[in-house]
Amino acid sequence: MPSKAILPFFSFTLFLLLPLLFQAVLADPKDQHPSPFGFLQHLQGCQKGNKVKDINKLKKYLEHFGYLSYDNKTHSDHDDFDELLEHAIKTYQLNYNLNVTGTLDPETVTKMMSPRCAVPDIMNGTSRMNSGKHKHWHTVAHYAFFPGRPKWPASKFRLTYAFRPGTPASAIAPVNRAFQTWAANSHFRFRRISNFRRADLKISFERGNHGDNNPFEGPGGFLAHAFPPTDGRFHYDADERWSVSVTPGFYHLETVALHEIGHLLGLQHSSVSGAIMYPTLSTGQRKGLHSDDLRGIKALYGL
Ligand SMILES: *[C@@H]1O[C@H](CO)[C@@H](O)[C@H](O)[C@H]1NC(C)=O
Ligand SMILES: *[C@@H]1O[C@H](CO)[C@@H](O)[C@H](O)[C@H]1NC(C)=O
Ligand SMILES: *[C@@H]1O[C@H](CO)[C@@H](O)[C@H](O)[C@H]1NC(C)=O
Ligand SMILES: [Zn+2]
Ligand SMILES: [Zn+2]
Repeated sequence: MPSKAILPFFSFTLFLLLPLLFQAVLADPKDQHPSPFGFLQHLQGCQKGNKVKDINKLKKYLEHFGYLSYDNKTHSDHDDFDELLEHAIKTYQLNYNLNVTGTLDPETVTKMMSPRCAVPDIMNGTSRMNSGKHKHWHTVAHYAFFPGRPKWPASKFRLTYAFRPGTPASAIAPVNRAFQTWAANSHFRFRRISNFRRADLKISFERGNHGDNNPFEGPGGFLAHAFPPTDGRFHYDADERWSVSVTPGFYHLETVALHEIGHLLGLQHSSVSGAIMYPTLSTGQRKGLHSDDLRGIKALYGL
């Protein structure tokens, strides 16, 4: 009677697959798409003086995240590994607690290829994400703010949030939980309303070029981004594989919401790898708020 053996097998397989199928519907992922950061793989081992195809893509990557800025734009289109590029890589390595070699060693390539928040680590020439004001940067690696320290005015600690109509229903509870976590750890209070246009904080799933000059690039690479106070926009990349529970191969919605809400409140990226404001995240990884994040929000709002 083979059917007796096959039926439990099928039920079991279906049981395993169901959550995955459900989650796949959420984001409509393009499975076989190569990561936008995949070009870095074959640049491993490159150093100053080299000329290798796709170095220009590395320059654009580092320009995007704020590490590099050429006065002569034609230099960023060339594949020459020059002095400025070496300096940019060293700054990146400082920020990510890597050995400061100025070369594309394997650890640096692996870190650069990690999926991450699309918000730049460095803005308007601030030298590092871990407080350029301190001389001994390595002893004070911590939270950071946006240039000019934009924040919500003291009178505005009760903030409303809304999801763009059409947001997958399963994404709502994880984002609600992330707001509750921030409320429990700050002076902010959050209330969900249905009017998207009137909300202080606006959450939506976007894909590709979506009208804010910060395009997503398909699966992998950029996972999400959010804008500093008092802009309020928080965009998930709709092309990623998102999950409500911690699931191998999927990005955890609530963890990414905790990070992006940090930006909405005025926190920038932190060099502390355990901090929610650390820029990279793996699939199947869950994080919560870290003492570094709590010190950051307290310092910004003077509490
Ligand atoms: C920019 O760099 C290119 C290549 O080195 C050079 O030919 C060009 O003259 C430079 N342009 C300016 C404005 O310096
Ligand atoms: C830094 O270099 C040392 C010595 O070569 C090595 O043992 C260590 O693993 C490196 N650390 C990182 C983060 O690359
Ligand atoms: C940072 O630079 C951007 C673009 O140059 C500019 O729009 C923005 O106002 C600057 N912000 C601060 C705080 O200087
Ligand atoms: Zn971020
Ligand atoms: Zn966006």
